[in-house]
Amino acid sequence: MDPTVPDKLPTHLAIIMDGNGRWAQQRMLKRIVGHQRGAETVKMVVEQASLLGIKYLTLFAFSSENWSRPAIEVRALMTLLKKYIRQETARMMRKNIRYNVIGNRGELPDDVNQTLDVAIRETAGNTGMVLTLALSYGGRQELSMAATRLTRDVLAGKLSADDITVDLFGTYLDTGGLPDPDFLIRTSGEMRISNFLLWQLAYTELYFTDINWPDFTINEFLKALNDFQSRERRFGKTSDQLNKGN
Ligand code: FPP
Repeated sequence: MDPTVPDKLPTHLAIIMDGNGRWAQQRMLKRIVGHQRGAETVKMVVEQASLLGIKYLTLFAFSSENWSRPAIEVRALMTLLKKYIRQETARMMRKNIRYNVIGNRGELPDDVNQTLDVAIRETAGNTGMVLTLALSYGGRQELSMAATRLTRDVLAGKLSADDITVDLFGTYLDTGGLPDPDFLIRTSGEMRISNFLLWQLAYTELYFTDINWPDFTINEFLKALNDFQSRERRFGKTSDQLNKGN
């Protein structure tokens, strides 16, 4: 039976899109073919998430650690990314989706940054879903950069060390302005966070599926969202307190 459309959706959905390489290797194909097929899954998930009314979708597209992959794969991924963004911007406009990027953009090739700048500028006025691409992103790197920026502001006298709270710290992260993810999906059977959104995932519900990203279908997506619907999010409280509404 096909899964139904859930009525309780995450406001912010984050996804670790894993298993492109294994999908390709299992079929004796080059790893980049797996990434190309993965980009088709990205199109489906973006479209469905926006149709369902999910407000924020964050995709782990390239990690700080992915730079150490073979140069040929890195180059192919950068080319794929550029092509995807160029091709999809018109659809983002039609669907009222806004592009956002987190991660160390200084490490990305100039042509990728230029493509991102155009896409971000063109979609800046869109008021629907915010699609955040995590590129050259690492959670520890983000936290240490935030600490550097915060220290600079303290040293410049803009704030005092005693002003630093959880909320203030959050504004120094790349995700400042985005709510924390409610739900994280990771494909391919790996049960790790892999340096993704370390601060922001503190109370996120986690979902792991054995399906490789290129094989992640609409039905698998709905199955994951239905699983989210059944989770009780207590944020450290008891069930009893939640049921009584306090
Ligand atoms: C993980 O699979 C995936 C990546 C490192 C890159 C993700 C990229 C895409 C889904 C395609 C392009 C992205 C966009 C936004 C258009 P893996 O290579 O680590 O797989 P493996 O663990 O099986 O080797």
